[in-house]
Amino acid sequence: MITLRGVVKRYGDIAAVDGVDLEVPPASVFGIIGKSGAGKSTLLRIMSLLERPDAGEVRYRDTRVDTLAGAALLERRRKMGMIFQNFNLFASRSAAGNIAWPLEIAGMHRREINRRVDELLEMTGIADKRKARLRELSGGQKQRVAIARALAANPEMLFCDEATSALDPRTTKSILALVRDLQERLGITVILITHQLEVVRQICGDVAVMDQGRVVEQGSVAAVFANPVSNAAKELLHDEQ
Ligand SMILES: Nc1ncnc2c1ncn2[C@@H]1O[C@H](COP(=O)(O)OP(=O)(O)OP(=O)(O)O)[C@@H](O)[C@H]1O
Ligand SMILES: [Mg+2]
Repeated sequence: MITLRGVVKRYGDIAAVDGVDLEVPPASVFGIIGKSGAGKSTLLRIMSLLERPDAGEVRYRDTRVDTLAGAALLERRRKMGMIFQNFNLFASRSAAGNIAWPLEIAGMHRREINRRVDELLEMTGIADKRKARLRELSGGQKQRVAIARALAANPEMLFCDEATSALDPRTTKSILALVRDLQERLGITVILITHQLEVVRQICGDVAVMDQGRVVEQGSVAAVFANPVSNAAKELLHDEQ
């Protein structure tokens, strides 16, 4: 469970996140939606400890984590995975080389790394792409490499920021099916930002709607989509049609 209380993040005059309370249930796929500039990515960076809030607190279960520093922070950060729209992979490395990278950083032995990389390639359905260079992979295959890399260190949480926004509908579906399958098999918590409401419908249990730095609505996807209360949610659903 991730809990946010009164989280604020300012950039100059802009309150990118403006007093957010949020509870993300464990072992679920949690969606965050909202129009461009609403503060989704900023909130995700705070939840994943990439950035520190100016005020408020972040807890994982009962432990306060936003105040961690040094080795304790690095240790936590190693236990979470992130994937992005643009994949953020090394062009100079093969698929296997990209997946191996966090394990190399962690100081794992080469033989063990090879074993784990094979397992991850298998898990993400790209076992035949082990030696492929990045330019030889499709967008969907690149995102599979990124997912494999994100899961390399057995994270408890996977953060996804517009991870399927650059993919066509069919590939999006297959990546979402993979994420859902991994969530269930590994029991991880997935926090997913998207502007594609279809993505939320397909794999999220709960969803939070952000507007101008605030969470203006939160609930089960079924409830929020069937009966949106906030103007922000109504607009998003209306714009979709
Ligand atoms: N590093 C930064 N420096 C200054 N301003 C920032 C920074 N990061 C975000 N902002 C501002 O904070 C607000 C929220 O940005 P954020 O990237 O969190 O929105 P978002 O909901 O992820 O939008 P999008 O859907 O376009 O990705 C915006 O006004 C943005 O310009
Ligand atoms: Mg964003």
